[in-house]
Amino acid sequence: MYTDIEFPAERGEFYKTLRSQILLYTGQESDAVAALANFASVLAIAFERANWAGFYLIKGDELVLGPFQGRPAVTRIAYGAGVCGTAWREGRSQVVEDVECFAGHIACDCNTHSEIVIPLRRRDGTMWGVLDMDSVDMGYFTDEDRAGLEGCVELLERFG
Ligand code: SME
Repeated sequence: MYTDIEFPAERGEFYKTLRSQILLYTGQESDAVAALANFASVLAIAFERANWAGFYLIKGDELVLGPFQGRPAVTRIAYGAGVCGTAWREGRSQVVEDVECFAGHIACDCNTHSEIVIPLRRRDGTMWGVLDMDSVDMGYFTDEDRAGLEGCVELLERFG
């Protein structure tokens, strides 16, 4: 059962708490969909100004929508398209302060103003998907969030 907790404002403490909450609700799970679903739920609770949090998984030459929290979203994204497809092509995280300024951004919710996308990697370093989070605030995600979230998604490497 879920117990409400307070997420500390200080970013170091925030990410320690986030990591422990993710472990609590995914750590014992062997099914990828179940673990990704709870991971997205924990993110939606922790990031108060996020309006979308979830996953796109690499299937052939596309990213396909996985478990998420938020409004319905585009289900397929081509390699190199939008922020997610760019993270896949470049093989690195994307922190977008203002989605209006990102050429090719795929709008899913007109309330979204900023976005962060983090690659999901297997133990051998190859990518198997991305974590995508959107916010209604401009410039909501920082480089600290990039580093913190890159640490958190390592907890998913067994599912790749
Ligand atoms: N904005 C994303 C598409 C997915 S939605 O944000 C959920 C992009 O440009 O990759």
